[in-house]
Amino acid sequence: MAYPLTRHRRLRSTAAMRSLVRETVLNVDDLIAPIFIAQGEGVRQEISSMPGVYNWSLDTMNQELDEIVSLGIKAVLVFGVPSAAEKDAAGTCAYDENGIVQEAIRRMKDRYPQLIVIADTCLCEFTDHGHCGVVHRHGDTAVVDNDESLALLVRTAVSQARAGADIIAPSNMMDGFVTAIRQGLDEAGFLDVPIMSYSVKYASAYYGPFREAAQSAPQFGDRRSYQMDAANAREALREAATDVDEGADFLMVKPGLAYLDIVRMLKDRFDLPLVIYNVSAEYSMVKAAAMQGWIDEKAIVLETLTGMKRAGADLIITYHAKDAVRWLRGE
Ligand code: PBG
Ligand code: ZN
Repeated sequence: MAYPLTRHRRLRSTAAMRSLVRETVLNVDDLIAPIFIAQGEGVRQEISSMPGVYNWSLDTMNQELDEIVSLGIKAVLVFGVPSAAEKDAAGTCAYDENGIVQEAIRRMKDRYPQLIVIADTCLCEFTDHGHCGVVHRHGDTAVVDNDESLALLVRTAVSQARAGADIIAPSNMMDGFVTAIRQGLDEAGFLDVPIMSYSVKYASAYYGPFREAAQSAPQFGDRRSYQMDAANAREALREAATDVDEGADFLMVKPGLAYLDIVRMLKDRFDLPLVIYNVSAEYSMVKAAAMQGWIDEKAIVLETLTGMKRAGADLIITYHAKDAVRWLRGE
């Protein structure tokens, strides 16, 4: 009888042996927690499609912030949810020095100077039409004007930096946004504020629950003329290469789960820190199944996040961040 000479199982025999040869270890430092700040007072509104994720207001957000910081999470990604009355076609409240995001950032940095506050830079939460830029109608079709939108995005980024944002994260998918924002930040004196570019952002059904949370669904049309087609991979390399040329400091792939091949491609091609966004519907699907008792939530989440890191992500933006840290600690 010929026995196998190579026995892979030798390295799997005990927990200690497995940990000795483990290639990927998920760590609290890998995680970025999103946070939604809404207009109003006393807000603590759970997002119905995202159990465990809340809209907060300026006066309640410390509940969430304190928890995030006490768990040892080092970075938050801030989204603003202005009231419908504040929204207009040009997304004016996105670049208001006293806007909801700017005020939230100031208070966060005041309370936790060491916390890395990342500002999502886009217009869709602030425009009444819900698109990520300035819309012009041509007959029945609506076109988001690239260059006109850039000017407003630059104002938004600069106002966020002025409020104290440590990193600017543009998610708008306009062409040339890194160049434009870099120039704007530099001219305003923010030479050292990095840009975390949502380099490769697909037009995705996985953003559905987020749009409920941020009330940012487009009122007409969709985002397919500026976000990427889910079928394309080589185009992702072109998108990322432009961002590298334009001076981005981080690259990002979004969504996560259905795009791990893209993460690996970018990791192999580029040297910048690579971020993956484990987006809203990826979270909601896990939560829904867990609430039914169909899956082991802890095991599923840790396996998913580890898979994202193994695929090449250096950092993971995830709504599971707080839970994941507790689970990593063995709680
Ligand atoms: C804003 C933005 C979106 C997300 C992050 N920034 C929504 C969108 O593009 O429609 C989605 C995040 C998520 O689904 O968790 N442009
Ligand atoms: Zn947007």
